[in-house]
Amino acid sequence: MSQNVGGLARGVTNYGDADFSLYLRRSFAKSMGYSVEMLARPVVGIAHSASGFNNCHRHFPELLEAVKRGVLAAGALPLDFPTISLGEVFLSPTSMMFRNLMSMDVEEMIRAQPMDAVVLLGGCDKTVPALLMGAAAADRPAVVLLAGPMLPMPYHGERLGACTDCRRFWAKYRAGGISTAEIDAIEGNLATTAGTCAVMGTASTMASLAEALGMALPGTAGIPAVHADRLRSAEATGRQAVALARSGLTPRRIITPRSVENALRVLLAIGGSTNALIHLTAIAGRLGIPVSLDRLNELSDETPVLVDLKPTGQHYMSDLHAAGGIGAVLRELRPRLHLDCLTVTGETLGERLAAEASWVDREVVRPLDNPYQDKGGLVALSGTLAPNGAIIKRSAADPALFEREGRAVVFSSLDDLAARIDAADLDVTPDDFLVLQNAGPKSGAAMPEAGYLPIPAKLARAGVKDMVRISDARMSGTAYGTIVLHVSPEAAVGGPLGLVRTGDRIRLSVAGRRLDLLVAEAGLAARRATWRPPVTPPARGYAKLYMSHVLQAEHGCDFDFLREA
Ligand code: FES
Repeated sequence: MSQNVGGLARGVTNYGDADFSLYLRRSFAKSMGYSVEMLARPVVGIAHSASGFNNCHRHFPELLEAVKRGVLAAGALPLDFPTISLGEVFLSPTSMMFRNLMSMDVEEMIRAQPMDAVVLLGGCDKTVPALLMGAAAADRPAVVLLAGPMLPMPYHGERLGACTDCRRFWAKYRAGGISTAEIDAIEGNLATTAGTCAVMGTASTMASLAEALGMALPGTAGIPAVHADRLRSAEATGRQAVALARSGLTPRRIITPRSVENALRVLLAIGGSTNALIHLTAIAGRLGIPVSLDRLNELSDETPVLVDLKPTGQHYMSDLHAAGGIGAVLRELRPRLHLDCLTVTGETLGERLAAEASWVDREVVRPLDNPYQDKGGLVALSGTLAPNGAIIKRSAADPALFEREGRAVVFSSLDDLAARIDAADLDVTPDDFLVLQNAGPKSGAAMPEAGYLPIPAKLARAGVKDMVRISDARMSGTAYGTIVLHVSPEAAVGGPLGLVRTGDRIRLSVAGRRLDLLVAEAGLAARRATWRPPVTPPARGYAKLYMSHVLQAEHGCDFDFLREA
């Protein structure tokens, strides 16, 4: 019996007799009805993350069929396998806790099962990062197929789409601007199709970055989930996976320091989600590629926001696709991109862009010399309150609040925030800085998207729309406001954020890239002496693994043992 190293013969199960192992594998594969000819083909694995707990992936069964069609047509054998699925709003305490778990599942199943290439089906916020983290580490030829965005739908004279509009209406409801009956009616009109959130939230940002990195087929990031082109792109992705199986081009040759820098540029130009910085750092970290906050700031100063999409602007992800898609953004950025980066097609980015049509709708994708905003969407801060960094999405914030000193109003935990934020006797003014402690990676809450602290009800009712808010939490990519996130080191590991007390003065300077706690070191030392960790480490299971190994935001919140040195 001949033993080749590809297809079904790859990595046989160890029974102490390799020929017997392959004999047994073929025998069992035949029990699924495959012919000898099929079993001799190269194998393309299809990692799919459909789940009854994931509305964004509800069209995956149809996409899966289209991928298989492409694989079969190109002469290989498609074999699908399920992965953990992370439906953003169905997971507690937050999907972020399980991103690394999914990435481990993906990495190990790619490596353990006999496949020559893999198609990675994902879309909802943490799924694309987890797929890319796992595939990067496994380093088997891989291509991402994205879920595609939901379509916004008309409702009472305006288009609505998850989830910037969810937050807008909820803020209005909290301020007493709309009734309970109205908010209930709107609830059924925010997310009305399959696919990922309709704005430039984390899912759309990560889809855009997957294409910018070269890990998804050109032009596919923004195709709406329900568009026939999404199915055609699935078929094309299946075909491409077969080409990858034959060429042996792996993620390590595609995800490089130069393509990661291209992706950072795109992140800034699209006004992308703050979460994407954590995810891109984690993906790059699996290949030993550092992402520096200083470099982010340099790129941010020279990369304008080109795309007018919510929450930074007005349009939806499907509008970006219709306007020319990420290809149009890449063409604008072309003079500043590394064009020699390889993509999954085997072409370089430069070759891809040279071959593309030049259609662009300037309402949505602005030219480099007349941008939507003249600086990049994200800025990293550091200072005595955030020695290892923090992030602010300036493109979705109020510039009037960028250079401020304010009095801290501190909430010591998520529970404390929930208990007091709307209290009538809360001592707070619009000029204060709201500070949330103990919502970082090791807080026990696993860094939830709680950084978008609600405006205290009494201020909201008085018409206050934005305030400076500071935390070690994350924020949904669909949210907006003058919100400082990812403060590191976090409060739960003894970072300065945990030492802040109500009444302290804090200075924010977006121009100076600074976030400083204006309390003398002697005072901080006294507080440090009485500081205690806020949570008892979990005793068992994944929670124990997570708490023992999760890193801070500047390391992508990956596990220490999964990053490449
Ligand atoms: Fe899945 Fe927003 S809930 S992308």
